[in-house]
Amino acid sequence: MIPSVSIRLAVESDLLPIIQLDALSNPHPWGESLVADALQTRKNWVVELGDATQKSIVGWLTASMVLDQSELELIVIDSSVRRQGLARQLMMVWLETVAQLGVSELLLEVRESNLGAISLYESLGFELVGRRKNYYQIEKKGQIEQDHEAACLFTLKIESL
Ligand SMILES: CC(C)(COP(=O)(O)OP(=O)(O)OC[C@H]1O[C@@H](n2cnc3c(N)ncnc32)[C@H](O)[C@@H]1OP(=O)(O)O)[C@@H](O)C(=O)NCCC(=O)NCCS
Repeated sequence: MIPSVSIRLAVESDLLPIIQLDALSNPHPWGESLVADALQTRKNWVVELGDATQKSIVGWLTASMVLDQSELELIVIDSSVRRQGLARQLMMVWLETVAQLGVSELLLEVRESNLGAISLYESLGFELVGRRKNYYQIEKKGQIEQDHEAACLFTLKIESL
């Protein structure tokens, strides 16, 4: 089990650790400028491990919010601490916080091949509502290939919970 897990809103000084997390644990890293933009323009939460003397950021969720909808842009958990429920906890904090702000529907899209993430979303009650063919490019070793894969669109109505 992981000791001392805390989930909180991200602050400006989290930028560098989040950039590192994105670079090391996101299979399709956003890069510095997109991460910085997300911290300024979206709602962001981080998962921290450790005590008051030493903490490290091992998870990040960023989401947009427009009127009564909130869309997940990215969730990433450090590869070394996966399958311990951290993403589920982080998603629940997002859900509960935006619900209190008046959001009634959550949206997200995910690569069709990302079965782990799809399983996470389904376990929280998200329902598949659409599929965008050839939406994502498939990258291999930094090179962009001609192949594409579909995006799966999921939603969750908060009132239904
Ligand atoms: C997807 C991701 C965020 C999941 O993080 P995590 O902390 O390991 O997820 P959790 O431990 O909270 O998993 C909760 C449930 O989701 C499902 N799940 C998560 N990862 C899974 C995997 N690799 N394979 C199958 N099911 C998975 C399971 O149902 C799991 O419950 P269980 O462990 O009791 O079986 C993590 O793998 C990640 O950062 N991936 C890279 C970035 C990414 O793809 N983000 C999603 C697209 S934005």
